[in-house]
Amino acid sequence: MIKNEYTKTLLLSPVYPGEPLSEILHRENVDIHFPCGGNHTCGKCKVVVEGELSEISPSENALLSEEDRKNGIRLACFVRAMGDVKIHLSKALSSQILTHGTVTLTTNEPLMASGHFGVAVDIGTTTVVCKLYDSLGTELAVSSELNRQKQFGADVISRINYGMLHNNEVISRSIVEQIEEMLQVVSDKANILRNQITHAVVTGNTTMLHFFSGLDPKSIGFAPFTPVSLFNTYHTDILSGIEVYIPPCVSAYVGADLVCCILSSNMMEKKDKALIVDIGTNGEMALLSDGDLHCCSTAAGPAFEGAGISHGSVASTGAISHVNYDAQTGLVMYETIEDAPPKGICGSGVVDAIAMLYDTGAMLPNGRLEIDGNPLAAMMQENDEVEFVFPDTSIAITQGDIRKIQLAKAAIYAGIITLSEACEISTDELDVIYLCGGFGSFINLSAAETIGLIPKDSKSRTVALGNAALMGASMLLLDSTARNKIRRISDECQYIELSGHDGFMDNYVDSMMFWDLDID
Ligand code: FES
Repeated sequence: MIKNEYTKTLLLSPVYPGEPLSEILHRENVDIHFPCGGNHTCGKCKVVVEGELSEISPSENALLSEEDRKNGIRLACFVRAMGDVKIHLSKALSSQILTHGTVTLTTNEPLMASGHFGVAVDIGTTTVVCKLYDSLGTELAVSSELNRQKQFGADVISRINYGMLHNNEVISRSIVEQIEEMLQVVSDKANILRNQITHAVVTGNTTMLHFFSGLDPKSIGFAPFTPVSLFNTYHTDILSGIEVYIPPCVSAYVGADLVCCILSSNMMEKKDKALIVDIGTNGEMALLSDGDLHCCSTAAGPAFEGAGISHGSVASTGAISHVNYDAQTGLVMYETIEDAPPKGICGSGVVDAIAMLYDTGAMLPNGRLEIDGNPLAAMMQENDEVEFVFPDTSIAITQGDIRKIQLAKAAIYAGIITLSEACEISTDELDVIYLCGGFGSFINLSAAETIGLIPKDSKSRTVALGNAALMGASMLLLDSTARNKIRRISDECQYIELSGHDGFMDNYVDSMMFWDLDID
């Protein structure tokens, strides 16, 4: 029954008969993804498991396919171990995590003394990156991993809920332990002693920073969305032997990560009308016009990170990352990360695929998939819903996936329009659009324009900054002038709360269509 493509088998014993498999996996540090935080809704916590297991309940059954059941797949958040169980793990996947940016770093009164070392850390909801520097500003080593908190949910709200239902401590411990391990990794890579690292600048969104610093993020999850802290604080009790600086956040949903992105873009020093967007599970963005800086955050959800999409995947080995239709041959071409056999589709692949569906007429401007009358008809099929299936795979983009992407891209675009309205400019007047983060760096800009994720005709004005949050944190570690500037950015940033904003909802509804959007 169990396929032999799995490379590792673990024998696990419950502490008591009926212990949830998810608890055993947490205890044993087995890295399984729980996108909905174990709330029994996403159907993504699939594991190949055998042994003394609880029966499949009707709700678990509904989330499994015939093929899953045939292959011994169960959902880890449903299953209980009644006795010893064996879990089969597939090959470790390498993830495409962006560890660099476009800034040239300068050194001026670094936080660490001569002969000591410091790290810049970016805690993303999905990934964590840690970079080691010496006091001259030389980059010595980098470590990047998926954020192990993903076992508590794919997005900040799932993790806040998990913390409320269980406890925050386990989530806080997970990120602190992960960073401690990454510090050891970069020390070993650079051939220095771990205790020679004396300083760290740790950035991230407001929720991640609450978990990291041991604060309760519960109040971020509910109106009026008041965080316990907006940071700009120094801590000596989080990482062993290290003074940690956490840069300022602006609000519950505009975190130090966006503030660091603004810092590293250097946009405050220029006269340009500039938009900066960090597309993650929340779309954090800011617009600078005539010296006024406005910012907001829109709940894009995790669709662009592959979560909630039927065959969605993080950007890791085997994920379809680019898609293209060749009109001359009539072939759909696609690339996978590391050229591995296709295992799913990540955000950049989804954006390309939807742009292709739109360009070929297989999808109407309202997002409806057409089964016939288009060049992709041979690849369209209808099961429970209409879907496009990638040739020679079982990977599909379904009608439901398109609806989720419509909601996500509408949230981002409506945020952009609402900011430009607040600044009384049109998006045509923007001199430059900075895209930050992995997704913003890996997406095809033409496809992003086609689906209405970024303003039309903005491709030539768009600049990908890479991991700009990490680069901002590096600047703060190495340069005292950056530490002065960051306060100015957070003080001057005028936050617009979109949940109570009159125009945002109209913009959101108007942005739901694929082009032609006519709301600018
Ligand atoms: S169904 Fe198990 S984590 Fe979502």
